[in-house]
Amino acid sequence: MATDRKKIALIGAKGMLAQAIKHRCPESYLVHGYDLPEFDMTDREHVFSTLADLQPDVIINCAAFTQVDACETQEELATAVNGAAVGFLAVAAKEIGATLVHISTDYVFDGKKQQPYLESDAVAPQSAYGRSKLVGEQAIAQSGLNKYFIIRTSWLYGPGGNNFVETMIRVARERDELRVVADQVGSPTYTDDLAAAIFSLLSLGNCHPSAITPYGTYHVSNNGSCSWYEFATEIISLARKAGEPIKTQKILPIATEDYPLPAPRPAYSVFSKDKYNQVTGQVIPDWQTSLSTYIKARTTKLASSTILESRRDK
Ligand SMILES: NC(=O)c1ccc[n+]([C@@H]2O[C@H](COP(=O)([O-])OP(=O)(O)OC[C@H]3O[C@@H](n4cnc5c(N)ncnc54)[C@H](OP(=O)(O)O)[C@@H]3O)[C@@H](O)[C@H]2O)c1
Repeated sequence: MATDRKKIALIGAKGMLAQAIKHRCPESYLVHGYDLPEFDMTDREHVFSTLADLQPDVIINCAAFTQVDACETQEELATAVNGAAVGFLAVAAKEIGATLVHISTDYVFDGKKQQPYLESDAVAPQSAYGRSKLVGEQAIAQSGLNKYFIIRTSWLYGPGGNNFVETMIRVARERDELRVVADQVGSPTYTDDLAAAIFSLLSLGNCHPSAITPYGTYHVSNNGSCSWYEFATEIISLARKAGEPIKTQKILPIATEDYPLPAPRPAYSVFSKDKYNQVTGQVIPDWQTSLSTYIKARTTKLASSTILESRRDK
């Protein structure tokens, strides 16, 4: 049956952010999801033939090799997925006339700044993951595609994915004491807020009448900033209030050097959202408000699924 809904090709459709995009998607769009193992974005021919068949209006790329530490020993694969394959999507988008939305990261910066990063600030990735994601951004710029949004984000959490919030709640149920890094500062981002921001930008792309186009690079994260230690403290406090059986009594701030990991993390990765605010007229919620919304929502969902399970058992 013919439909006048615009088609979105959602790449990485099983991932955490993709869940929120499907949830937030306005009625005017129809989402077609693609992910491993059926769809491998490093397979150039398959990417081109799939997208040529679908003829999407929008391609949203949420797919990535996101295991930051594993990227250190698998940089070639990371660069193929996060870099070269993004170029395939950009060239396909150009041929089809589609808009490309691509998600990038705070890891493209070195984290040495002490004021919020602007979109125009110099990039200097310190890790294999950051380098591979920068190759993806550059591939879009080099493709000649005009209709694109590169959206850099940070510290993502939400339903349907491994993330810091879920890890903290899980370990806080098991341990009396937690040690969390306090000298890395950034901004958490709720996937629901990022998904809403993506559709705000897309709606501008659809209806710009003048020569001024909204396309380009944007920084989107929740407002405000915190260290991982402050984030963990708030997560555990909210989870306890929501009725989680939290065992942790003490959270200790530690230094990055006391928790060595293979990939270096930016010490500071707060974004300026001025460009997003000015272009869309929207303000992204602060991180504490969104964290509270998420923790309440997940607790309600867990409670209702437990009730359903116990009804099924009867
Ligand atoms: N999570 C964060 O804190 C964070 C922060 C800043 C930016 N970002 C960026 O935000 C985006 C979404 O992140 P996320 O956390 O939602 O990611 P995610 O949950 O890891 O989802 C990524 C999806 O992409 C799939 N994928 C991997 N390689 C693929 C390939 N070659 N072809 C097709 N699909 C492939 C993955 O499949 P498998 O699971 O089978 O590998 C997974 O379903 C990514 O671009 C990421 O770089 C994330």
